[in-house]
Formats: sequence, C-alpha cells, structure tokens
Amino acid sequence: MTDSLFSPMTIRDTEIRNRVMMSPMCQYSAEEGLATDWHRVHLGSRAVGGAGLVMAEATAVEPRGRITPEDLGIWSDEHAEALAPIAEFVAEQGATPAIQLAHAGRKASTTRPWDEGGPLQPDEGGWETIAPSDVPYPFENPPKTRRMTKGDIDDVIEAFADAAERALDAGFEVAEVHAAHGYLLHEFLSPVANERDDEYGGSFENRTRLVREVVEAVREVWPDDKPVFVRISGTDWIDDRPSWDREQSARLGPLLIEAGADLIDVSSGGIHRDQDLPHAGPNYQVPLAEAVRREGEVPVAAVGKITEPEQADALVRNDRADLVALGRELLRNPYWTLEAAHELGVDVEWPPQYRRGRFE
Ligand SMILES: Cc1cc2nc3c(=O)[nH]c(=O)nc-3n(C[C@H](O)[C@H](O)[C@H](O)COP(=O)(O)O)c2cc1C
Repeated sequence: MTDSLFSPMTIRDTEIRNRVMMSPMCQYSAEEGLATDWHRVHLGSRAVGGAGLVMAEATAVEPRGRITPEDLGIWSDEHAEALAPIAEFVAEQGATPAIQLAHAGRKASTTRPWDEGGPLQPDEGGWETIAPSDVPYPFENPPKTRRMTKGDIDDVIEAFADAAERALDAGFEVAEVHAAHGYLLHEFLSPVANERDDEYGGSFENRTRLVREVVEAVREVWPDDKPVFVRISGTDWIDDRPSWDREQSARLGPLLIEAGADLIDVSSGGIHRDQDLPHAGPNYQVPLAEAVRREGEVPVAAVGKITEPEQADALVRNDRADLVALGRELLRNPYWTLEAAHELGVDVEWPPQYRRGRFE
C-alpha cells in the first residue's frame, strides 16, 4: 500500500501519527534560556492542531551557542524542567514531542530579528563566538570569533550529549541535531567557513567528523527505541568557491545513519551572505531531500514552501519524502493538519474539546 500524508510512521519503536512535522522555529521568547508560556502555547497549539511531530526550536546546548540572548536553552536541569510540561502536553495531544539541539557557532550573539537581527557586541550583552576558524560571519562589525581548540570541540560534543540526556528527562521522544543554516556544525561541514588543517578540516572525511561525533554521542545517551534526526543544509547555494553541496549531502546521509541517526531533515543555505538562493517557490528544497533519500537510501524530511494539503500528500505518495515539515504555514494556521485531513478526505481524531468545530 502506498503511504500518504496521514499514514503513521514508525521509526525505531516510536510511532508518529502522520507525516506532518512542525518545522523548528526560533521564537526568541525565552528568559535566560528558560521556556515560557509562549512556548507552551506555540508548540501546544500545533499538537492540538493535529501535527504528527512537533519540533521545538533550535535549543542551545550551551549559553554561547544561542543566536540571541532570548533563545531557548537546555544547558541545565532547570531548563529541562521548564520544557517538561510542554513535552508532556504535546504527547497528551497525540503528537510526538521533538526538540532541535543547536549551537549557533559564529552566527551567535545577535539581536532578535525584530530588533534588527544584527550582531550584538560584548558591551551590549553579546559574547565572543566560537567557530572552526577565526573568521567571523560576514556581518557588518561582527563580534570576535575564536577558532576552536580540540578541547573546545570535545566540550561541544559533551554539551550535545548532556543536552540530549536532559531532553530525554524532559520527555522528548525525538532529538534533532541542528547541522544546517550556517550554525556551528554546518560551519565545520562547509569549506566556506572551515579553514582548519587538522583532523576537523580539509577533506570530506575531516569536515564531517564533528557532526558524526556529535550524532554518535547523542545516540549513546538516547534510547534505542527513540529516533535521532539531523537537519542539514543540502547545499550552500555557493558556486564560486569550494562549498557544501548536494553530492556531499547525499554522501553524508548514510554516514549519519551509521553514526546513529534515523532520518535526515534537509533544508538549505545559511552559511554566507553570498549565497545565490534560487527563487524560493513551492517545494524549492525538495530536490535536495530527494537526492539524500534516493542516493543515500535514507529516510528524509522535506521542508520549504510546502503549504497545500495535496502538495504535501504528493511528496509522501510519490516517495519523495518520508516526513513533510511545515514552518511558516503552521505559523499562519496551527490547525492546518486537521484542515488538510478534511480536504484530503481522511478521517482523523479531533481533540474532544474541539469536536463541535469539526467540518460537517
Ligand atoms: C520564525 C522562524 C524561525 C525559524 N527557526 C528555525 C530553527 O530554530 N531551526 C531551524 O532549523 N530552522 C528554523 N527556521 C526555518 C524553518 O524551520 C523552515 O525550514 C523554513 O521556514 C522553510 O519552511 P517553510 O517554507 O515551511 O516556512 C525558522 C523559520 C522561521 C520562519
């Protein structure tokens, strides 16, 4: 039987009720990294709205790994405790609670997008960032970026593993390692940001070493019955210099599975301002996900301008993706999944409190 948008999917022993994944979206609404009521409503309402998997935003594994001071964090038990009721509520609604574990690398220490999103200097509450090389992100007047020592690399691997342990304690069932969008792990993958000449730079094997080690460390603490995802940028969209591209992504997929991941969530871009992004129309990143799925023979999530029920359903039916992640469309409509089921003629369970709102 052909799978469709409303087919459940079992990864390891975790069943996801349908293929709709809420894409991780930073809300810049945490207090000292602690989740607030905003996160509870934001994530909770998409679970009420029928999504199969609800992914909490990029959550920093250490304070200097935050994009902004208002980012969510999971570097202490107190942070996990603040997230626990949210994961519990999401699970109670029948959705799979998931969390993206992140380190912003040289793109850390900025202000929120609605406060201009520019670099935040140390005297304004910003901090020195860390990266594979001491080359800052091409912001105007970026804060200082320091090349990571081997000790820093070991600390980051440990921070991801500790964060995963806390995420598990908080009740999350899926951990996603954020290796996309020009943040720390992507900076190691891409020669655009990685100028190292040690075992973490240069060859494909060396540039992919850190992400593989992080995934292995996360897998070690994450139970066998629960999935680990990795979000990658399928390409840097940069052609005029050595960069990260589709071929390398397809090659990386099976290596990440070998390291302990179960699904690759394929986005793109973010490594440098010079990226030459194509017109970001419907399904614009799907060919990248498809390449990873076909060439690497690994399960993938597709994301990017997926907004219509038929469009999302076709991606699963035509074996182009295993999960379909929606970002901005779910910001517009938390109940998109319930509406999509109606439009596609599929009968899905509604929360009893909302049953009188069901389509007649
Ligand atoms: C407000 C906002 C915040 C985002 N934060 C994250 C994030 O924390 N982690 C991530 O991997 N992507 C993040 N993204 C990217 C989305 O997850 C998604 O990949 C992107 O918006 C494209 O999908 P869409 O066209 O369905 O919105 C963010 C996007 C938006 C709009």
